[in-house]
Amino acid sequence: MMRAHEAGALHGQAGDRGPAWLRHPDDVNGLVTPLWAENVSKVDGVLTVAGLGVDELAGEFGTPLYVLDEDDFRSRARAFRDAFPEADVYYAGKAFLCVAAARWIADEGLSLDVCTGGELAVALRAEFPPERIGLHGNNKSSAELRRALEAGVGRIIIDSFEEIDRLAALTAELGVTASVMVRVTAGVEAHTHEYISTSHEDQKFGFSIAGGDAFEAVRRLLAVPGIDFRGLHSHIGSQIFVTDGFEVAARRVLRLHAEIARELGVVGEEFDLGGGFGIAYTTQDDPLPPADLARGMLKIIDEECAALGIDVPHLSIEPGRAIAGPSTFTLYEVGTAKTVALDGGSSRRYVAVDGGMSDNIRPALYSADYSCTLASRDSDAGPALSRVVGKHCESGDIVVKDEYLPSDVGAGDLIAVPGTGAYCRSLASNYNHVPRPAVVAVREGEARLLLRREVEDDLLALDLG
Ligand code: LLP
Repeated sequence: MMRAHEAGALHGQAGDRGPAWLRHPDDVNGLVTPLWAENVSKVDGVLTVAGLGVDELAGEFGTPLYVLDEDDFRSRARAFRDAFPEADVYYAGKAFLCVAAARWIADEGLSLDVCTGGELAVALRAEFPPERIGLHGNNKSSAELRRALEAGVGRIIIDSFEEIDRLAALTAELGVTASVMVRVTAGVEAHTHEYISTSHEDQKFGFSIAGGDAFEAVRRLLAVPGIDFRGLHSHIGSQIFVTDGFEVAARRVLRLHAEIARELGVVGEEFDLGGGFGIAYTTQDDPLPPADLARGMLKIIDEECAALGIDVPHLSIEPGRAIAGPSTFTLYEVGTAKTVALDGGSSRRYVAVDGGMSDNIRPALYSADYSCTLASRDSDAGPALSRVVGKHCESGDIVVKDEYLPSDVGAGDLIAVPGTGAYCRSLASNYNHVPRPAVVAVREGEARLLLRREVEDDLLALDLG
């Protein structure tokens, strides 16, 4: 089914009525605290993180700005660590990665999942212990595999027959052994957006269990002297709230695990269930705390292993969004506000900020909903249903599709959007030649720049004329 273009939706819904889930706020200046990082609050109307006001941050670092609450990021990493004490927790760096974040992940005792040579380079720059790095990717080049083997990464998650051949050649040439997991497709429909579902049959990731490729991949790699088979891997998708998808996947993968032991005489010692744990972007979302997730998943695995009469393999998981996402908000400055008349006599209020789809592509790409608040002052004006848009040349350049903001929000006001720590900076682009924003981390009243803002000269330097 084709999704309607965002502009089409303008006609479908009156501009002064929001979607059914959006509640009219009692206090339009208030914060919906579950959507914000731990150390964020409002002080006299000014959004404050770990003691620093956003007015100060905007003054020092400019806008748009990704503002990261370091203690929040670290405590979410720890929460996964503590909830799965017997498992390895690989932080999925694709959600957000820079040298400082890799160091926090290492400090908190987690492992790291990278999926390109570029992410691996960041990890190595951070001196991340290589034995705690896993390399993913559905099309790893020989150069990427070589770099991973030379660095001594702990595991490589194989996704294609070609990679088995590449690893056979490289391990022979380098005289090393590659520890590998095999990524399998469990044939599960995860209840999430099509573009972030990864375990139904008709998509590019993994070896199909149902089609027999998964078994065949293990059979083939067992014949390669330089490859050490560690176990099976399954990631069903992202932004998932219910454990039933994990349950079906775990069952199917463990059955294959048992079949491999029986038919090929090799027991995979490990089992990776991937990431995908959802977070709250708006009041529609109700994520499970890691401890509850852990209880559910471990029970499923224990029961299935008991039923199959096999030992429980060593578990690993790969949360990305659930660690990085809630830690960060994006701070924008408002430039214009206008009210547009719609058919039927209603109208819609548009508030345009100084960023947009170049710093957060998720609304355009996945119809993702966000929320926001006026961050620089309290307002006495009543709530007005508003659409926050960016500065790019596309009508789908929407930052927050529906939110109540004070009706007097206008030029010079600061607006903050929570939950932008995952897949926003990492998916940022230079569309319309807009430089990518900086990332600043705040901890105990101190701000530290993690990624500097791109400047026009960075972009011009690429242009060789
Ligand atoms: N492990 C594997 C093998 C993955 O492919 C992914 C995400 C993860 C773990 C981490 O998933 P998480 O816990 O962060 O949901 N750009 C999309 C999400 C793409 C996810 C890609 N793979 C978005 O913005 O929603």
